[in-house]
Formats: sequence, C-alpha cells, structure tokens
Amino acid sequence: MITCDVFGAYTIPKSVFIDYLNDEYVSSMRKYFANIIGFYRDNVIKNLDKVLAATKGNIEIIAPAHGAVIKGSLVNKAIDLYREFALKTPVDRKVMVVYSSMYGFVDGIMSHVTHVLSDWGFNVGIYKFTDKERASIGDLIGEVNNALGIVLGVSTYDTEPFPLMDYVINLLIKKLRGGGKPVLLIADYGWGDVVLRHVKTRLEKAGFTVIDAISVNGILTKEDLDKIDIALQSFKQALTQ
Ligand SMILES: Cc1cc2nc3c(=O)[nH]c(=O)nc-3n(C[C@H](O)[C@H](O)[C@H](O)COP(=O)(O)O)c2cc1C
Repeated sequence: MITCDVFGAYTIPKSVFIDYLNDEYVSSMRKYFANIIGFYRDNVIKNLDKVLAATKGNIEIIAPAHGAVIKGSLVNKAIDLYREFALKTPVDRKVMVVYSSMYGFVDGIMSHVTHVLSDWGFNVGIYKFTDKERASIGDLIGEVNNALGIVLGVSTYDTEPFPLMDYVINLLIKKLRGGGKPVLLIADYGWGDVVLRHVKTRLEKAGFTVIDAISVNGILTKEDLDKIDIALQSFKQALTQ
C-alpha cells in the first residue's frame, strides 16, 4: 500500500524499513498525523476501512512518502495507531496546559493548575506563549491530539485574547476538527471581562466541552483560587469518565 502522507512520520530513519514502532517513532507519527493530515481525520478512517475491506486486511507493506516503510506484524499495529490518531483517543493520561501571559498573572494561575493536575497523576504538557517564550506549535498540535483534555489560560489584549493565544486557539479548533475534548478555560483581564465569553462561545461552537470558564481580574485572590479548585475537580471528573 503506497500511502503518501498517511502513515508518515517526521523522522528520517536509518534504514528504509523500520523494525519496531517504539515510543519515539510513534510520537513522530502522531505529530505528523496531527499537523499534516489531522484536518482530514474523517477521510482517513473512511478510506482506511475501504482499503481494509478491499484487501480483506491482507496488507504486507505500508510505504508512506515520509518516514519509514512498515511491513510484517507492524502493519496491523500501525493501522491500530492510525485509528487512535484519527479518533483522538486519549493516551498516557496526558493533559495540556496552554496559555499566554503578559505580566505573569496567568503564569501564576497555570503553575497552580499544573501542580494540582500533576499531584492527581496526570501527565501535564505545558505550552506557554508569551513575548519572551514561544512553545513549539507543531509539538503542541501533536501532543494535544491524544490528550484527555486541555486547560486554556488567556490574557486579555485590546478586548481580545492575547494575539499568539488567539492564533493557537484557532489552530486547536482547526486541527482537532469536531472538538470533543473537555476544556477548562481561565481568562485574566484588567478592566473589561469580555474575553472569557468570546472564547467559550468559539470553543463550544467548534464542539469542545467547556467544563468551566473562570475570569480573574489581575492578580489571583483567595476567592479566585477557591473557584479554580472547584473547577479543577469538575475537570478531573470529566477527564476520568
Ligand atoms: C497590551 C495590553 C493590552 C491590554 N488590553 C486589555 C483589554 O483590552 N481589556 C482588559 O480588561 N485588560 C487589558 N489588559 C490588561 C491585562 O489583560 C491584565 O493585566 C491581565 O491581568 C494580564 O494577565 P497576564 O499578566 O497573565 O497576561 C491589557 C494589557 C496589555 C499589556
């Protein structure tokens, strides 16, 4: 089966064939899938089923245009993985914490969120988008594909989400087509609490389940922290259902 982008990976393997699909190779396949063909995920499943029916499952070799050629017993494993990618099946108790922060207020909130989630045994992937640091968008798209859920921390910038975060939210909506993942949304503002509602509506329209949405005015207060802790409990419940 010659598949072009499907079953591809970012890595350039040492040999044409690969002997085993280890974690490193699988995460390269996942990243490739999510970034390059995630937008077409429904077609992947549909056409994979068509090919499997036509060949009665007798596929000896998968030869993608990128990465290694897969053969023998690895073929079925790669097909199972592809279903996992296309269906966004959660793996590794992964939870993504994705945020922007200009003065560090959201940063402080997300440190708390990360500690709580880690203490509960979730595998937290932190992606921070600020003036000084910018996480890899390709890695984020790859990891979020099979995450259990997402915490989004958004600071308010000229009545809108901080521009980098706005871009990231749009990309998540596009690449996770159909949404489906639980989201905990926290927005921080100085004088106008407008971003929270705006982002929540966008996410819900795109099919994400917003478990809770909390606005914080500047620096975190004890009351905010209590609200966030209650929201985290609901979020945890949604992740473990
Ligand atoms: C360039 C800039 C634009 C901002 N625009 C708004 C705004 O339109 N509305 C608002 O309520 N706060 C605005 N703020 C204030 C921040 O949203 C607020 O201080 C928030 O607490 C920042 O959180 P952070 O430090 O995590 O980014 C702005 C701040 C900056 C630096």
